[in-house]
Amino acid sequence: MNIAILGSGRGSNAEAILAAQAAGQLGRARVAAIFCDIPGARILALGPRFGVPAFQPDSGPFKTKFPPEIETVWANAIRAAGGDFIVLAGFMRVVKAPLLDAFAGRIINLHPSLLPAFAGLDGIGQAWRYGVKVAGCTVHYVNAEVDGGAIIDQAVVRREDADTPESFAEKIHAAEHRLLPDVIRRLSLAE
Ligand code: GAR
Repeated sequence: MNIAILGSGRGSNAEAILAAQAAGQLGRARVAAIFCDIPGARILALGPRFGVPAFQPDSGPFKTKFPPEIETVWANAIRAAGGDFIVLAGFMRVVKAPLLDAFAGRIINLHPSLLPAFAGLDGIGQAWRYGVKVAGCTVHYVNAEVDGGAIIDQAVVRREDADTPESFAEKIHAAEHRLLPDVIRRLSLAE
């Protein structure tokens, strides 16, 4: 399983995947490349740090989606980099037919809530404001519906009375950093 990690920002989940690989904990998966849609995003710096190619192809004029022809360019670039499986780790753009068709059944996404609750933007903030006592994160297959594909696994986090928005977010991120590499490991061993 040759993974292309797609991200838009900090890249802490990409880092957790790369650290798991370095520790021999990624099963038969390996990271082929990192792809980022935002110039200068921190995730791009992980490439040189971990010896993995990192690319930032043109993403077109929109912020949250690709024009179809640009998505085809991305699909070709991911293949050219050796990717045969896509992990969306903080990728803040909707993925549509050209990528979905090119990697049918081989794209997974990390979302910072217990789906189907709090889909869409700012899952952590939505959960905090709603006041849920049990929150968490989800890894799911990607289909044409935003945050709607089949759930692979979830991790649960409790909101304690002493939590602040910051400590709540930190707990969810820590759960993400454990869950995503472990899901990749399990999927790679099942191939
Ligand atoms: C993560 O919390 C991830 O679940 C979220 O963005 C963050 C990326 O952090 N993704 C979404 O909200 C997707 N809808 P990172 O760049 O440090 O990995």
